Amino acid sequence: MSSTERRIATSVLVIGSGGSGLRAAIELAEHGTDVLVVGKRPKLDAHTSLAAGGINAALSTMDPEDSWQQHAADTVKESYFLANPHTVQIVTEGAERGIADLVRYGMPFAREEDGRISQRFFGAHTYRRTAFAGDYTGLEIQRTLLARSEELDIEILDSVYITKLLVRDNTIFGAYGFDLTTGTRYVFHADAVILAAGGHNRIWRRSSSRRDENTGDSFRLAYEAGGRIRDPELVQFHPSGLIEPENAAGTLVSEAARGEGGILRNTLGERFMSRYDPERMELSTRDRVALAAYTEIKEGRGTAHGGVWLDVSHLDRDVVMRRLPRVYQTLMELQMLDITTDPIEIAPTAHYSMGGVWVRPDDHSTDVTGLYAIGEASSGLHGANRLGGNSLIELLVFGRIVGQAAAKYSEGLDAQLRSENAVSEARAEVDTLLVSDGHENVRALQRAIRNTMTEHAGVVRDEVGLTAGLTELDEIELRIADVGVHPDIAGFSDVAHAFDLKSAALAARATLEAALERRETRGCHNRSDFPDQSASFQVNLVWSGPGEITREAIPAIPSEIGALIRTVDSTGKLVE
Ligand code: FUM
Repeated sequence: MSSTERRIATSVLVIGSGGSGLRAAIELAEHGTDVLVVGKRPKLDAHTSLAAGGINAALSTMDPEDSWQQHAADTVKESYFLANPHTVQIVTEGAERGIADLVRYGMPFAREEDGRISQRFFGAHTYRRTAFAGDYTGLEIQRTLLARSEELDIEILDSVYITKLLVRDNTIFGAYGFDLTTGTRYVFHADAVILAAGGHNRIWRRSSSRRDENTGDSFRLAYEAGGRIRDPELVQFHPSGLIEPENAAGTLVSEAARGEGGILRNTLGERFMSRYDPERMELSTRDRVALAAYTEIKEGRGTAHGGVWLDVSHLDRDVVMRRLPRVYQTLMELQMLDITTDPIEIAPTAHYSMGGVWVRPDDHSTDVTGLYAIGEASSGLHGANRLGGNSLIELLVFGRIVGQAAAKYSEGLDAQLRSENAVSEARAEVDTLLVSDGHENVRALQRAIRNTMTEHAGVVRDEVGLTAGLTELDEIELRIADVGVHPDIAGFSDVAHAFDLKSAALAARATLEAALERRETRGCHNRSDFPDQSASFQVNLVWSGPGEITREAIPAIPSEIGALIRTVDSTGKLVE
């Protein structure tokens, strides 16, 4: 054993220090269970801090008619009936409690003059139910959860990269990793592990995630441990990502901009949403707005840089500064553009993994005993289109539930068997990479995967493109076998990037294969060769390895939710 390998034991290990991981850890600590959180980014800068516009709960502070049942109905309908209704009910019914927990921890929600929590419209919600803190909602949630974690003395190691989950006889017993700065190795022994390491939307070129986050880590860790991936092809493209500058392409312009009254126009000045969803216009669902923008651009009505215009300049300057401060700052910083006077040039950007690790609806346990997945790493709530604001509430609700489930599992263990063999394999994998001196560059191969996914698995897909994507991926995987990894004085990030690359390749394969298999158009998944929705695909696709996809039936919708599902007349259309 290397002298720089530390062994740490805890009851529950949480991988990922974003909102879902922290909320689960808080539940565990409040319960009195020993918990350790590890993450690969500085904890204040975890991906949750980027979440902008808001968090949903039918609090009825603005619209008294709202109810959790209506929230559930909107969520199921807009998932194109691929969401698991049981998961939806758990989240929407538990949402009010999720917000109350945040308030209890000190979350500074925007409030009306009389003290009510303010709620705004987000796309495709029947009522105003998106609570917010300007357009820094995720950052405030992250700060709030960190403050509570500190009160509870929760230990967070936020420069640790997890390379492998440790499993014996399909039962988790910990994880292996290394410190990104010192290279110190870690063997974490844990009764239970909660995977909260995000999704895979950074494997597209234009993404609302930053470099080195959402690289598909959860997919690879779970899959290699014996888990499966549900609906990897269902990736949400957010309509409004920045086009320029190139090194920040995809940076999000929050949906709050449209929620506050922002208008979309093509280069001819037409308010084009009237062609695609005349009833809801800019407040249509994300998949429709993204497809509409894509279609305008493809059909030649886009801007010079290949985008469309999002305009908030008609709003009161005060509204912009109070309710969209981050959009204002971001555009000033990146483009020196004043959004109170000029429109923003935007295009669709890969934003959210609506599929993820296969979990049971009740407690988010996985195929691997003792392993749980949560937040963007998990699956079940969003189906083929996620309502903006639902991801933040999901992490609050399931953070609590999964924390409780993991605590109960840990308490109920009579004994745990470990495997030195599994630890040796994990150690050897890092050792091998550390001495890799091949000719291929990790960053170049990451770029190659992003190019392939952008070219062949973007907003609109077809069989020819997806098959070509798989061929390209075969070639990239061969090149991955010849990477050179060179940690240097600055630290061990290059090793982390190499693992990110492995994760990206696996996530890309799962995505391309499932996208090929889903021969229909549904929500975010537009197949130009299968432009209609197909009843035979009203199922989840479960990927369990290369070439292995099964169909999973979706449970019936409870009648109290089904009765509230509205039909909305919208006529989105595919490009030819
Ligand atoms: O546009 C936004 O503010 C994003 C919100 C979300 O993805 O939930």
